[in-house]
Amino acid sequence: MDYQRIFEEINEEIKNDAPCGEVASYIPELGRVDPNKFGVHLTTVNGEHYSFGDSDEKFSIQSIAKVLSLAMAYNMEGEALWERVGVEPSGTPFNSLVQLEYDMGIPRNPFINAGALVIADILVSHLANPKEELIRFVREVSGNNEIDYCTRIAESEKSMGYRNAALINLMKSFGNIKNDIDVVMDFYFNLCSIEMTCKELSRTFLFLATYGICPETKQTILSVSKAKRINAIMQLCGFYDEAGEFSFKVGLPGKSGVGGGIVAIYPNKYSIAVWSPRLNKKGNSSKGIKFLELLTTKTQASIF
Ligand code: DON
Repeated sequence: MDYQRIFEEINEEIKNDAPCGEVASYIPELGRVDPNKFGVHLTTVNGEHYSFGDSDEKFSIQSIAKVLSLAMAYNMEGEALWERVGVEPSGTPFNSLVQLEYDMGIPRNPFINAGALVIADILVSHLANPKEELIRFVREVSGNNEIDYCTRIAESEKSMGYRNAALINLMKSFGNIKNDIDVVMDFYFNLCSIEMTCKELSRTFLFLATYGICPETKQTILSVSKAKRINAIMQLCGFYDEAGEFSFKVGLPGKSGVGGGIVAIYPNKYSIAVWSPRLNKKGNSSKGIKFLELLTTKTQASIF
């Protein structure tokens, strides 16, 4: 498949569209990013690479990192993990509190903030040095020792972290947070601050297109069953209250972040990362979704 030609074709089609949406500004440092950045990188399971635009520029991957923390916690806890967090789409915004009280502090899924905070709590319980061990895992999965946190972004988010503080306190009151809430929140904000380029992001997520095995190193990151299940959760919960629409338009499992990144997986074929910081009302990259919709439409290939 000539993805390069398809990328050029899609760009021709959308380059004159009116800019759509706003850069996330509830994290002050994210509000400073150039809204017109646009990058794409696709890595095939055979090791081919296709890129477009600002694909080599670092950005804050934000909630996309929740997939990596989930992979780590899933390996540690096995199926017992699902006693503390569900696998159902929430149909609510990523930072919503509304279901948490009547669900007795058990978040609907690991990708809404409440769920990712529980996963962070589980990792804090298991790891002696959570931040160091998480970034070591991410570097191993990505085959890149230079991947790192961005302290500036983590601190910026911490300064405005009222909503996450509300979520974690509510869950603590129900007994679903075992550690000190400040420790867990600091770990969570650092997780969200990880920076990658589109190229690094698509390469990092390739293991989910290859049933848990890193195609370059042949190292097993996840069992086949766990990799399939994480893809299933991305399909149903990766875009919060826009998960149905993303499935409908794009037809691939994926995960978004408020930094404007999206990663999407085509099992046995490829992993693709797109980055465009303007977000729609649901907090997902407008142009990123449009690009992926056109990709799976033009190639006439999605998981369905
Ligand atoms: O907890 C937060 O608000 C952010 N650090 C992560 C949110 C995010 O990326 C939601 N995704 N679209």
